[in-house]
Amino acid sequence: MDLITYCADVWLRCAVLAILMYSSTFRLLRSAGSRRFAASHNPFMAITQINHPLPPGFQLDQYRIERQISLGGFSIVYLAHDEENNAVAIKEYLPNTLALRSEGSIVPEIKEEHLSAFNHGLKCFFEEGRSLARLNHPNVVRVLNFFRANSTVYMVMQYERGRTLREHVMKHRGNISEKFIRVVFSRLLNGLREVHAQRFLHLDIKPSNIYLRMDGNPVLLDFGAARQALENDAPGLRPTYTPGFAAPEQYEAQDQLGPWTDIYGIGATMYACLAHSSPPAANQRLKADTLVPAVQRWAGKYSQQLLETIDWCMQLDYLERPMSVFALQKSLAEIPDEGGRDSWLTALNRRLRERVRR
Ligand SMILES: Nc1ncnc2c1ncn2[C@@H]1O[C@H](COP(=O)(O)OP(=O)(O)O)[C@@H](O)[C@H]1O
Ligand SMILES: [Mg+2]
Repeated sequence: MDLITYCADVWLRCAVLAILMYSSTFRLLRSAGSRRFAASHNPFMAITQINHPLPPGFQLDQYRIERQISLGGFSIVYLAHDEENNAVAIKEYLPNTLALRSEGSIVPEIKEEHLSAFNHGLKCFFEEGRSLARLNHPNVVRVLNFFRANSTVYMVMQYERGRTLREHVMKHRGNISEKFIRVVFSRLLNGLREVHAQRFLHLDIKPSNIYLRMDGNPVLLDFGAARQALENDAPGLRPTYTPGFAAPEQYEAQDQLGPWTDIYGIGATMYACLAHSSPPAANQRLKADTLVPAVQRWAGKYSQQLLETIDWCMQLDYLERPMSVFALQKSLAEIPDEGGRDSWLTALNRRLRERVRR
């Protein structure tokens, strides 16, 4: 074999290998029910639309589609109305790597080789509906119905008016008050407590999965990553993760998942509210920690106690984080005095924690 043929052969083998690795990684992610990829990995970035949404006015079962409100790599969310003209949000399972809906058609085209991955994802989507349907809490999105149609599946939710925490943070850059953080997260944690009480973990807490109603009350959305991890009755269903918000144990130590894993997401989300960008990914932090602790980054702008609470949640070692939502809520409820100084109780608490860490 001459040199040129040899080089061409090596090049071809590398290309085939790269394509195979790429597609199997995607399949792996998909079969894990994961749907954050490409640009959607960064929740502060937009993603490009590939699939065409159902047209406005389309009659989907008993619901009339009004318009598309969001697009992820895995689903499309629509605003629709039921027969009594109540607004609902409908999430349609449509992973754009596996199913293609071209303009003017309704039923997506699914290639033979993608069918089993598509069906597996569909099962995971049902899981999301099933998780949510069991939860009834004002700070957790309410699922009203789910059904099959158009060769896919739909989840009907109560339509929430407001905007995502991500949108709020982008609109009020640099203007997020300490009170806002304490109030919003204390309420959100009420919902998360209920989630944990039902033995679910959310596992994808981040600014775009938190909705702020018009009255400022937060709602936890998107349980696509939720698995009954505490019961672990679904072996093989590895949860998804969003870099920057996922805890280190989500990357490699699935047996260490627990309420503290969602608490990392809460800490990272609070951090992102102040930074208006995602914190560094936990797997990167494990190699070389570039995260500037909140106590350093915002010293003097927010109370030491709040900043320490954020840093506490974002500890890489899960044993050093608050162990329960309740413990975190207690910390968020400690209001520093007028001058932003910490109360004597907080100072004592801090000293005790420092001693324990030493
Ligand atoms: N019940 C709802 N009411 C209003 N908007 C919603 C609702 N559910 C989802 N959305 C909007 O759709 C977006 C995507 O929903 P989400 O459940 O997070 O799906 P994805 O898997 O695409 O991230 C949300 O960020 C929000 O803007
Ligand atoms: Mg989401």
